[in-house]
Amino acid sequence: MITAGCDVGSLSAKAVILDSGSIVSSHVIFARPEPEDSAREVMGAALEKAGLRLEDIECCVGTGYGRNHVPFAQSVQSEIACHGRGAQWLLPGVRMVIDIGGQDAKAIKLDESGNVVRYAYNDKCASGTGRFLEVMAGALGLRIEDMGDISSRAKEPVTISNQCVVFAETEIISLINEGRHQPDIIAGLHRAMAHRVASLAKGIEIDRELTMTGGVAKNRGMFQALEEALGVKIMEIGDADPQIVGALGAALIAWENRDSEKP
Ligand SMILES: Nc1ncnc2c1ncn2[C@@H]1O[C@H](COP(=O)(O)OP(=O)(O)OP(=O)(O)O)[C@@H](O)[C@H]1O
Ligand SMILES: [Mg+2]
Repeated sequence: MITAGCDVGSLSAKAVILDSGSIVSSHVIFARPEPEDSAREVMGAALEKAGLRLEDIECCVGTGYGRNHVPFAQSVQSEIACHGRGAQWLLPGVRMVIDIGGQDAKAIKLDESGNVVRYAYNDKCASGTGRFLEVMAGALGLRIEDMGDISSRAKEPVTISNQCVVFAETEIISLINEGRHQPDIIAGLHRAMAHRVASLAKGIEIDRELTMTGGVAKNRGMFQALEEALGVKIMEIGDADPQIVGALGAALIAWENRDSEKP
């Protein structure tokens, strides 16, 4: 039985297709202005990879900020529930998930079945989100995917004193003009952001069985900075793409609830 999850986020859209609870394909695209277009495009690409058609999907769950605009979904679930479920399926022992996306950061505590027991999130300010890093990459003239590698060459990470994205961008430009090295600036940015996300997680008590999901988890510099800020070794989710964990959770929920949610 084919089930699917579609996570339409603020910056990217993700789709995962399962055949009887096993992953057959997944896809990620940049979000389009209209969430419906994002949903159709990303699911179309995941179906093509799997050699399937939309009619083959028996049950689909939508999630993410655009979840109410996934035309082919039978039901919706919160991103928090989906990241929790997806992470727990990949790492059965996990008890805490930190999802950093483009627009918000979430810390989620789970029970042994992957149910959410507590969570905290920041969606008030871009300073602890992927968007913060994107603006800084732009100011430095770099690609977001290169930030992690470059930061690994840091010798003396800078201290970023401004939390606000707009002021921090000005601060970065001053640091460049002062001749500070790019790796030191980026490592300082990662530290500042990791510190903010760690405060969020500490607010609901850190569990050592912890993993990181969302697009920002692809940035090794941020991954390591968050380990340092939390004082915990973060569990790796292996070969899986951390960005698709929410869509995976949605597809798993569709599979688990297949009888009640089938159209
Ligand atoms: N290859 C990459 N290397 C480093 N960082 C990346 C990479 N791809 C994406 N990112 C980061 O991931 C962020 C987007 O994450 P994600 O796709 O999880 O967001 P989203 O689900 O659309 O947002 P939200 O959940 O807040 O609505 C980008 O802002 C960027 O910082
Ligand atoms: Mg997201």
